[in-house]
Amino acid sequence: MRAFTLEQLPMRFVFAAGAAASIGDEVRRCKAERVMLIHDAMAKAIADDVAEQLGSLMATRWDEVAQHVPVPLAERARAAATEAKVDLMVCIGGGSSTGLAKAIAVTHRIPIVAMPTTYAGSEQTTIYGLTDTAHKQTGKDPVVLPRVVVYDPELTLDLPPHVTGPSAFNALAHSVEALYATGCNPITSALALEAVRAIADSLPKVMRSPRDVDARGDLMYGAALSGMALGATSAGLHHKICHVLGGMFNLVHADAHSVVLPHAIAFNAPALPAEMKRLAAALGSPDGDPAALLWDLAVASQVPTKLADLVGSDGPLKRDDLAAVAEAAAAEVTSNPRPVSAEDLLELLEHAYDGVRP
Ligand SMILES: NC(=O)c1ccc[n+]([C@@H]2O[C@H](COP(=O)([O-])OP(=O)(O)OC[C@H]3O[C@@H](n4cnc5c(N)ncnc54)[C@H](O)[C@@H]3O)[C@@H](O)[C@H]2O)c1
Repeated sequence: MRAFTLEQLPMRFVFAAGAAASIGDEVRRCKAERVMLIHDAMAKAIADDVAEQLGSLMATRWDEVAQHVPVPLAERARAAATEAKVDLMVCIGGGSSTGLAKAIAVTHRIPIVAMPTTYAGSEQTTIYGLTDTAHKQTGKDPVVLPRVVVYDPELTLDLPPHVTGPSAFNALAHSVEALYATGCNPITSALALEAVRAIADSLPKVMRSPRDVDARGDLMYGAALSGMALGATSAGLHHKICHVLGGMFNLVHADAHSVVLPHAIAFNAPALPAEMKRLAAALGSPDGDPAALLWDLAVASQVPTKLADLVGSDGPLKRDDLAAVAEAAAAEVTSNPRPVSAEDLLELLEHAYDGVRP
């Protein structure tokens, strides 16, 4: 028997193909009167439909969204929420739209109804992040956890492959690290392994047939469970590395996850024999090496596998940048299944930079 403590997060979950048509009713169930509708440019058509469902409940609409929530953007969106006397937000889109709604929720203490269109999983966590110049700061606050999440796989049918694959790897990273991150317990591990199984099974199908709504639904289900697993545990070594990479160089968040995950798992695997056995089974090869299986899934899903190929706001990531990333990430890691130094992380990052199969 293993003793544990689990804090259940309060949330209503609506999951169905076509569920987007119910979001107006979901907002009315929350008794909101002045809604701020947040979405990015890609979600305009979906947001138009939601605006129609909201009718006179919609107080203001906001369509400027950016990855990692820059502080000046958050400040402007917060001012718009104040001016419109908003009492609830509906956010539609990927982790960046959800992140902006969370940044407003932190200061305005108002609820969120989320309708995700990627696999980032932010809608299932109490974690929020803001980026000031090159530093990303995160915090935890229960107020940012959406009150309702509407999952509709039909919204993801046109998600392009170069977003779909890495976003699914972002989800996979949540569930894989939930197997050992601080706060893990038998229930979060069960969630995480089911998530890995669902993602590993559905991602190749989605990459082959992007408009297969059943496969999209299975992938979204895996991503939702991954978000729950992250939300109930914490960020581990892999997430800390990606967090530093994203904050320093403004890389595409999900691309960094795709490249780093197999290498982070290769590093931690020797300290986690039981967990790695279960992970390999969930990835479909009980006798396989999980780091290599993740790398093979990355190649099969055509996601980035080399840090050298990633481009940030100052151009391609340079090998000379890796030492600073290793130093910063080592300083952020407070607990890990095996001791980790900046030298270890530099070696890990060099493998990731070259795209070596672990
Ligand atoms: N707080 C958390 O728990 C948590 C968890 C995961 C990620 N995040 C944050 O989320 C952000 C990344 O989220 P993301 O990977 O979803 O990226 P994103 O929200 O920036 O979206 C990626 C791209 O996909 C496009 N897109 C989204 N949905 C689409 C659709 N259905 N069809 C076509 N295009 C679509 C967007 O316009 C954008 O160009 C990062 O800032 C990351 O830090 C936070």
